[in-house]
Amino acid sequence: MLDRRGRPLGTLRLSVTDRCNLRCVYCMPEDEYAWLPDESILSVAEIERVARAFVSVGVREIRITGGEPLLRAELETIVARVAGLGAEVALTTNGVLFARRAEGLARAGLSRVTFSVDTLRAERALALSRTTRLGDVIEGLRAARAAGFSRTKINAVVMRGKNDDELLDLVALAREHGAEVRFIEYMDVGGATRWSAGDVVPKSEILAALGSPEPVDADRGASPAARYRLRDGTVVGVIASTTAPFCADCDRARVTADGVLFGCLYAERGVDLRGPIRAGASDGGLVDMISATWTARDDRGAETRASLGHREALIPLSRLKADPHREMHTRGG
Ligand code: GTP
Ligand code: 5AD
Ligand code: SF4
Ligand code: SF4
Repeated sequence: MLDRRGRPLGTLRLSVTDRCNLRCVYCMPEDEYAWLPDESILSVAEIERVARAFVSVGVREIRITGGEPLLRAELETIVARVAGLGAEVALTTNGVLFARRAEGLARAGLSRVTFSVDTLRAERALALSRTTRLGDVIEGLRAARAAGFSRTKINAVVMRGKNDDELLDLVALAREHGAEVRFIEYMDVGGATRWSAGDVVPKSEILAALGSPEPVDADRGASPAARYRLRDGTVVGVIASTTAPFCADCDRARVTADGVLFGCLYAERGVDLRGPIRAGASDGGLVDMISATWTARDDRGAETRASLGHREALIPLSRLKADPHREMHTRGG
């Protein structure tokens, strides 16, 4: 199934909660948020139905996101149900609560885990994510390996003057835990209300700080990360959504925890799947809604943003409060 730009639907980013136990400055810098109402959150059975519909139209990878997915008590059940549909199941987590649940998630059929770690310094973790639990995140990395996870990744959003002097320390952290680090440009997504162009460390600077490594893959497919090999052989990724967007190959659909389908991180409007599901839509009806949405998709949000002469925060706070669906933490990153 192709969209209007000829892009196949390959990946579903499935958010299971909009809540988070951290407050990263690039994602949730405010003191208060409007949350999705509890009764609107999809049940495990509803999530399974949505996932099944996506698998039936060609989705091969389902990435479970949040907010923070480990805040959802039924996460292991969700993973087991989704894995049972035949898709590869991955998880993006801040890692704080991961260690104790690593084995259970592995047993449930989780294939891969990506952790967010922006700094190794306690005072910076407090300033950047308002957490004192960096040690628990490192425990999580250890537990992931012990539970048999491979292809683990570490995401680090690089911010000017905040953590841009720690790139090699993060490379070493990843190496120590058998993971691959990806450096992410700070994006002007909904929710990044403090974003300014001056805070972005572009890919060119990230690569220079890493000693100008060689590219690894000629063709990276639909993956957001371009990979490079450092002189010592270590492979790292750079996700340059702000200065070098990869919309042309984007195969990702997003579903929020309350069942709204978005074709793009930057899309203004989504398609509500929850209403029809709760009104008794058949599996075929659900598939038709997804197909109609994907085949009409024309989004290239990051490219459109990059073509602007002047960029500032995407959405004013008042509009985010009126509709949390535009928040990065609601859209699942
Ligand atoms: P892999 O399958 O391991 O490559 O995972 P991933 O990179 O798709 O997922 P992850 O949740 O680790 O996301 C890494 C970073 O890339 C985050 O900052 C995401 O917001 C960003 N990202 C992922 N998908 C997209 C996308 O479709 N568009 C944009 N602009 N950024 C994305
Ligand atoms: N810019 C870049 N990456 C972001 N993430 C959240 N907000 C932003 C932003 N404004 C990343 C998190 C996490 C992933 C799912 O999204 O660091 O690793
Ligand atoms: Fe940070 Fe992820 Fe939580 Fe956003 S959802 S505040 S990026 S841990
Ligand atoms: Fe895909 Fe939109 Fe991200 Fe571009 S900005 S890669 S179209 S989700």
